[in-house]
Amino acid sequence: MPRELKANPNVVEMEYAVRGPIPQRAAELRREGRRIIPCNIGNPQALGQAPLTFPRQVMALLEQPDRLGLERRRAEAGAEGAYPLDAVDRAAEMLARLETGLGAYTESAGPAFVREAVAAFIDRRDRGGEDFVPADPDSIFITDGASEAVKRVLEILIAGPEDGVMIPIPQYPLYSAVIRRCGGRQVGYYPDEDRGWTLEREELDRAWEEAVAAGTRLKAIVVINPGNPTGAVLPESSVREVIDFAEEHDLVVIADEVYQDNTYGRPFVSFARVLGRRPVPLCSLHSVSKGFFGECGRRGGYLEVRNPPALAGTRTTFGELLIKQASVSLCSNTAGQAMVELMVRPPAPGDPSHERFAAERDHVLGELAAKAGRLKEAFAEMEGVSCPGEIGAMYLFPRLGVLPEGTGDFEYCLRLLEETGLCTVNGAGFGQAPGTHHLRIAFLPPSELLEEVLPHWVEMHRSYLAAGHKVRG
Ligand SMILES: Cc1ncc(COP(=O)(O)O)c(C=O)c1O
Repeated sequence: MPRELKANPNVVEMEYAVRGPIPQRAAELRREGRRIIPCNIGNPQALGQAPLTFPRQVMALLEQPDRLGLERRRAEAGAEGAYPLDAVDRAAEMLARLETGLGAYTESAGPAFVREAVAAFIDRRDRGGEDFVPADPDSIFITDGASEAVKRVLEILIAGPEDGVMIPIPQYPLYSAVIRRCGGRQVGYYPDEDRGWTLEREELDRAWEEAVAAGTRLKAIVVINPGNPTGAVLPESSVREVIDFAEEHDLVVIADEVYQDNTYGRPFVSFARVLGRRPVPLCSLHSVSKGFFGECGRRGGYLEVRNPPALAGTRTTFGELLIKQASVSLCSNTAGQAMVELMVRPPAPGDPSHERFAAERDHVLGELAAKAGRLKEAFAEMEGVSCPGEIGAMYLFPRLGVLPEGTGDFEYCLRLLEETGLCTVNGAGFGQAPGTHHLRIAFLPPSELLEEVLPHWVEMHRSYLAAGHKVRG
């Protein structure tokens, strides 16, 4: 009999609902031949969103540099189907600056020219804020998606079982999972659902006081802006309030800003912009997975650190630890690095690719907003379902205000899956106020598919509620 090994309990206990039991049941149904619509995760290209043309043209040339000369001649001759000259130029420039091509390891933090492009992007975005401080390329780390950046930061900050991290509830379960894996404590704060998921200072104070009374040593506060799963977009006043709170309590702010392009007409205000010269440690994240790129599979993202926290008991700096962590994996994947560069340096007005790029961007964002609106209309037809607040990120998080006695949002989502093929995640997977029920749906399926499936959902909702004694949640 082989010896039984004790596994790391932190890994055993870690949960990740967006790939949890409902998506697992969806996978079984798919194997049985059922059509499944995967709205459990913000994975736009899995639901038919087309990749943007310009970044893919550059990527194709980066992958096959021996075609550069030929493609340049074709572009210059205006040959049919030729890549535009700016795509060829960009690929040539990136290859020259990469020096060793996509197939070689790079610097652990990512190539300098990509980090410089990220810094220039941040500066363009935030210039004009009071006390503007330019971004420093040496404080930028290119990562395999934002997820990797979150893991690295929390791994450094959580030094013992009493160390806690404040996270919004509901939250994106990456945070609860990583805190668990690192053996720390999750401390939830609850944005106010009835006021469109606004963030109140009293609630931050309540969460802090309760945690401290329980012996928790708070290290950081996570803010997801725009929110996942709520879609809430924070006004500048809330961003400032979080920075005030962090300064008072000596916390690191982790600003997850991967949905910064998904605000659908409302302004996005970054934490870095509001921070200005204030000394609060800030780790901001961005990704190629969301926005209008939707390049989730490329695994590209960046982490920007401002005012790195001083570390007790070591001469090593926070930045050096981040580099050490990156160097254990040698470097992030080079295609993801290239995609980050293309995200932060899109074609400029006047460039041959600009018009097409802007049209594709506007189409993707316009479609997303329209689909969210269509879902909200369907919710209005469902008894007890409410979905307050503006549209943001890629998700709606409707509250299921009435359910048959003895059932919860898990059973509801399972029935929705079985009857319509829509794979969603129940609210408990993100955390929710006790006694409430929700689900999260990514508003990504093609419009025709939504039109086809929404009447079935409305009908399923009616029959689900009719099947039992209704109770309010
Ligand atoms: C709030 C939030 N942060 C981070 C991530 C992870 O992004 P990435 O694909 O860059 O790892 C996601 C993915 O859905 C997300 O919703």
